Amino acid sequence: MIKVIAPAKINLFLDILGRLENGFHSLFMVMQAVDLCDEITVDKGEDGISLTCSDKRLPQDENNIAFKAAKAFFEATGIAPNAVIHIKKKIPFEAGLAGGSADAAAVIVGLDELYGTKLSKQAMCEIGLTVGSDVPFCIKGGTCIAQNRGEVLSRVKPLKKCYVVLAKPEKGVSTAQAFAAADQAYIYHPDNLKMLEACSNGDFDGICKHASNVFEQVIEVVERVRIKEVMRLCGARLYQMSGSGPTVFGIFDDKEKAENCFNELKNICNDVFLTKPVNYGAKIK
Ligand code: C5P
Repeated sequence: MIKVIAPAKINLFLDILGRLENGFHSLFMVMQAVDLCDEITVDKGEDGISLTCSDKRLPQDENNIAFKAAKAFFEATGIAPNAVIHIKKKIPFEAGLAGGSADAAAVIVGLDELYGTKLSKQAMCEIGLTVGSDVPFCIKGGTCIAQNRGEVLSRVKPLKKCYVVLAKPEKGVSTAQAFAAADQAYIYHPDNLKMLEACSNGDFDGICKHASNVFEQVIEVVERVRIKEVMRLCGARLYQMSGSGPTVFGIFDDKEKAENCFNELKNICNDVFLTKPVNYGAKIK
């Protein structure tokens, strides 16, 4: 049996540049993996693929993105499908934290190990992209600029030591609906080049200054103002929504301030996490 850990991601930056011919949107993002992780186990069993998940609200069949990832792995490698998958869920879903994509990434990494296929990261990313735009990043992990659908990834310098508090408001957001809302809106665009420069230079102050997420302009999250206010009062260097939301993250350079913020936010949200950036993606435990 192979165990894989699957880190969540946050978006330090997200801009929608336009529409690609395939219907997806062309993005410019800065993605960061954090140590809020699902745990996936993969093993061989009877013929075919079976999947269970600790969170019964998620599909336990072929509708789960992790199941689709297993199917894509077997199709790409030509191996007869045979996998028993279990997901221990910690990352909230419909949260803007790539929880589903992280599980899909972990399944591909786990099956590669289980079957000794020794696929390159790039090959695994290509399989991953067939099931979700964020899966390649979840395989690569760390700190990356992500372009096109999110699969063109360039690693940049890791963030300096810091703490990331995540607060997920109750109501989930569908990514497809968030993109549809963005299509209907006139969006003000942030300064991508300044963010690119800050990331290339590992300039933490510049990253905090130029961080932005255009989905904040089109997605309404009632608790967001309150969460951000708590983060600001607790001394966050940056507070912003992740992905298509609704999770808001705050970045702190001081552990005590982050812990204080974590405790304060527990009065507002059920799902609050104190995490750190990590420089890996889905990996064998
Ligand atoms: O690729 P993924 O399944 O995660 O995307 C969910 C939905 O978000 C897609 O169906 C699409 O509507 C939208 N999307 C997009 N452009 C991207 C990524 C996602 O339009 N680059």
